[in-house]
Amino acid sequence: MTGVIGSRIEDLDTPALLIDGPAMMRNIERMAAFFRGRSAQLRPHFKNHKCTRIAQRQLAAGSAVGMTAAKLAEAEALAAAGVEDVLIANQVVGERKLARLVKLAGRIRLRVAIDHLEHATAISRAAADAGVTVGLLIEVDIGMGRCGLPPGPPALDLARRIVELPAVRFDGLQAYEGHLVSVADADERRQRVHEAFGKALETRRLIESAGIPVAVISGGSTSTHAITGLIEGIDEIQAGTYPTMDWTYAQVAPEFEIALSILARVISRPRPGVAVLDVGVKGVGHEFGPPRVKGYAQAHVPAFGSEEHCVVCDAPDWRIGDAAELIPSHACTTCNLYRWIHVHEDGRVVDVWPIEGSGGLT
Ligand SMILES: Cc1ncc(COP(=O)(O)O)c(C=O)c1O
Repeated sequence: MTGVIGSRIEDLDTPALLIDGPAMMRNIERMAAFFRGRSAQLRPHFKNHKCTRIAQRQLAAGSAVGMTAAKLAEAEALAAAGVEDVLIANQVVGERKLARLVKLAGRIRLRVAIDHLEHATAISRAAADAGVTVGLLIEVDIGMGRCGLPPGPPALDLARRIVELPAVRFDGLQAYEGHLVSVADADERRQRVHEAFGKALETRRLIESAGIPVAVISGGSTSTHAITGLIEGIDEIQAGTYPTMDWTYAQVAPEFEIALSILARVISRPRPGVAVLDVGVKGVGHEFGPPRVKGYAQAHVPAFGSEEHCVVCDAPDWRIGDAAELIPSHACTTCNLYRWIHVHEDGRVVDVWPIEGSGGLT
C-alpha cells in the first residue's frame, strides 16, 4: 500500500475508497469546536468509517469522552488501537460474544446498551466469572422503534434490578433519535428532537428520584448535534457521519463537507452520452439512492443495481480509461465495503489507512 503514496489519485487502481484529508479534518475540527466548553461532550460513532486512524483524530481534536461502537468487533478494533473508553450502543448477545465482551472490559472502560433483564443477568454472570465490571446503559426507545424499552416506569424497574446484580454497574440511558436525523425542515427537526429527548430526560428524573444515580444519557447524531448538544441533561453526543459525509446527509447537515468518494474508471462508452464505470453495488453503499458523480452536476446514475457496473447518463466527455469520483448516498455502508482508505490532498495520495472494522466482522 505504501507504493501508492505520492501518486495522483487518478492513477490508483479502481475502485478505490478516497477521503479528502483536509476536508475530513475541517469536519472533525468543526464538530469538536462546537462542543468546546459545553457540558455535553462528543462520543463519536465509529460505525461511520470504522477506521481507527480517523477515530484517533476525532479524539485528538478534543471535546470527546471516548468512542461509540455499533458492535463488539468495532469496540475490539478501537481497543487494539489504544482507545480506552468505548460504548457499544447496542445489545451484545450470545455466549461467545459475552466471553469477548468481558475480556475487553478487563482492558478498557466499556459500557454496553441493554433493554432487558436477560441482557443484564447474562453480562453480570460472565463479568463476575471474569472478575470485571461492565457499565450498562438502559436503552429507551424515544420514537425510532428499534431496540429499547418504553421510557418511564419500565426503565426504572430495570434499573432497580440492575443495581442488585454483581459485576455490572448501572451507568445511565442510551437514547437514539434515528427517526429524526433526516427530517428536512430544521425547525421541525428541532421541535421533534426536543420532544423525543424529553422522554429520556423524564426517565432520568424518575430513576434519580428513586435514589439511583444516572451518570449519563448518551445519544444524538451529526444532524442533530446542535440541538441535542444544548439540551441540559444529555451528556454524550454520538455523532457519526460528520468526518466523511455523503450526498444524502449533506442535505440535512450542510455545514460539513463531503470528504468521501470512490474513485472509479470508465470501462465502456456503449452509447452516445452513456459511460459505464467499474464499480457497482459491491463497492458503493446505496440504500439511500444511487451515487452521484463528483464535479458533474448534470451527469446522473439513473438506476443502480449491477454488482460491478455503474451506468452514467449525460456523461461528460470521458474516454475509456478515464477516472471519475462517485459520492455515495450512504458513507457508512460504503466504508464497510473497503479494507483501505486513501487519504488525499491536492490531488495526491498522502496516506493509506486500514479500515479495521470493515467487512462481516462479528
Ligand atoms: C446508536 C446510534 N447513535 C448515533 C448514530 C448517529 O450517527 P449519524 O451521526 O451518522 O447520524 C447512529 C447512526 O446509525 C446510531 O445507530
